[in-house]
Amino acid sequence: MIPATMPPTAHSPSGKRGTVLITGTDSGLGLAFVHTFLAENWIVFAGWIQTDSPVTHMDNPHLIPVFLDITDLESIKAARSEIMAHTPSLDLLINNAGINPDCGIPLEKLDFDVVQQVLNVNAVGPLRVTQQCVGLLRKGAYKRIVNLSSEAGSIIDCRRKSWFGYSMSKAALNIQTRLLQNYLGAEGFRVYSAHPGGMRTGMGSAVAGLSPQESANRLYAPITGFADNDIPQFFELDGKPMRW
Ligand SMILES: NC(=O)c1ccc[n+]([C@@H]2O[C@H](COP(=O)([O-])OP(=O)(O)OC[C@H]3O[C@@H](n4cnc5c(N)ncnc54)[C@H](OP(=O)(O)O)[C@@H]3O)[C@@H](O)[C@H]2O)c1
Repeated sequence: MIPATMPPTAHSPSGKRGTVLITGTDSGLGLAFVHTFLAENWIVFAGWIQTDSPVTHMDNPHLIPVFLDITDLESIKAARSEIMAHTPSLDLLINNAGINPDCGIPLEKLDFDVVQQVLNVNAVGPLRVTQQCVGLLRKGAYKRIVNLSSEAGSIIDCRRKSWFGYSMSKAALNIQTRLLQNYLGAEGFRVYSAHPGGMRTGMGSAVAGLSPQESANRLYAPITGFADNDIPQFFELDGKPMRW
């Protein structure tokens, strides 16, 4: 069990070491977030699904890898029990896991099983995790939820003619952010959507401008910023506002 009073850090509003659950840490941005938050002295619960995930091999006493498939409620409940064996509360939830198997597929060739899978992972998955973790977050000092969204989910800036499943899933995730803020805001929660920029990850393009580590590092300050009201609810790198 993590002691109630951890060494103070500059990053925890309670003076305790912050606790964060990050989903989708097998690769890409999720794995980069693990490195960023560990370097900033957080206790990190890292959701993994791949056998041999890098997080299961990292040797750090403040890293607790937990198997977590965000499409499977039982898996999420089991992960929550594992987290509760270490701590009675969570300060921050980062819903990072996502997939994008349908980019560029035109309307006539859409496979609706794939479209439903994308919606299930990218839009319903984070809601499942939030539902199961909200009790732990209520007991946390931070009460913060960050949904990894995308510019592809912005309705006002939409110029694409495809990416149906992915774009629809991120727009749905954005309205989820607003609904959760409305539901939980009075309890002191802050719920955000964040766009990490185009990254060189399994999902992103090999020629994208950003490494996932640069994105994680530049999202850290707005994600953990204490001047809550200064942070736009939908933001990109360095906390710059995004249009819904
Ligand atoms: N890459 C970009 O340019 C970009 C741009 C805008 C937004 N984003 C968003 O940023 C987030 C991270 O993307 P990324 O580029 O880092 O992608 P990535 O490298 O493909 O990583 C996504 C992670 O999610 C995991 N995952 C997939 N399905 C899951 C499930 N059912 N349960 C738990 N984990 C699951 C993957 O695990 P496995 O690999 O083991 O399947 C992987 O670790 C995503 O939400 C994405 O939509 C990315």
